[in-house]
Amino acid sequence: MPSQVPRIPDFLYGTAWKEDRTAALTELAIRAGFRGIDTANQRRHYFEAGVGEGLAAAYRAGIVTRADLFLQTKFTYQRGQDHRLPYDPSASLSEQVAQSLAGSLEHLDCDAVDSFVLHGPSSNYDWTEDDAEVWEAMRRERDAGHTRLLGVSNVLLRHLEQMADAHAEPPAIVQNRCYARLGWDREVRLFCRERNIVYQGFSLLTANVEVLRHPLIAQLAARLGANPAQIVFAFAHATGMLPLTGTSNAEHMKLDLAGAGLALSAEAVEAIESLVG
Ligand SMILES: NC(=O)c1ccc[n+]([C@@H]2O[C@H](COP(=O)([O-])OP(=O)(O)OC[C@H]3O[C@@H](n4cnc5c(N)ncnc54)[C@H](OP(=O)(O)O)[C@@H]3O)[C@@H](O)[C@H]2O)c1
Repeated sequence: MPSQVPRIPDFLYGTAWKEDRTAALTELAIRAGFRGIDTANQRRHYFEAGVGEGLAAAYRAGIVTRADLFLQTKFTYQRGQDHRLPYDPSASLSEQVAQSLAGSLEHLDCDAVDSFVLHGPSSNYDWTEDDAEVWEAMRRERDAGHTRLLGVSNVLLRHLEQMADAHAEPPAIVQNRCYARLGWDREVRLFCRERNIVYQGFSLLTANVEVLRHPLIAQLAARLGANPAQIVFAFAHATGMLPLTGTSNAEHMKLDLAGAGLALSAEAVEAIESLVG
């Protein structure tokens, strides 16, 4: 484990869908001020080795050290992968988890990540025996010092409740797509808040185009001298979410980071909560 593990930063930079721009954009994001990096050992959507190259460039340039960063990766079931698997598909799920994380540590050139997340449960409805096996294997990785925290992603409240019935240990992190029309994932956020679980929201802009175009958001943006995307990130921050952005644009990187720091009034937060759902 790194000797000084950072607290979880206020914003995560997401590295999905960047292919051969992954290294340069990861470095750029760190230069822009991001200290949390989200990736996955899932070559179909992420180029994790490229993230490692970007980190190495930032270390070489003296911008940060490993201890300044919060690094998060994921284990993805075979059904979420393409042919470029990060494990032997004939191995047990427990072994696949260990192989996947070992590959991530190699890609990111570190002894441990800060967070290791189950990318999605094996069923869209239930927490299954396969998930239980994977979770136990993830716990063993944590106990072996290969990650500081464990999380789950793409979960329903039902998954979390079944998980709580099946395991003594809850996740430290939940990462979900956050739709405003579903009350910004209100039920899952409440579950997390009551248990001190960090809720990470993604697709805050892409899943919520109707919010970005809403007159109330335009008014708030004008009042604060901000843009609508920044209002969404300010809202996420005000509600206790840890937002992700995967912007490929240097100016948007700075705007997104600054957005999370904007102060919204309690009335504005309440209005955005129920703006479209
Ligand atoms: N757990 C999962 O299953 C899962 C699934 C999806 C994503 N994720 C994670 O979440 C990360 C982020 O994904 P995402 O779906 O939230 O977003 P995304 O795919 O990165 O899309 C963000 C979009 O918003 C635009 N944007 C960002 N800041 C803006 C600004 N200030 N003004 C105007 N446009 C702006 C970006 O365009 P520009 O590039 O032009 O700025 C981009 O089109 C991913 O990289 C990945 O790490 C996880």
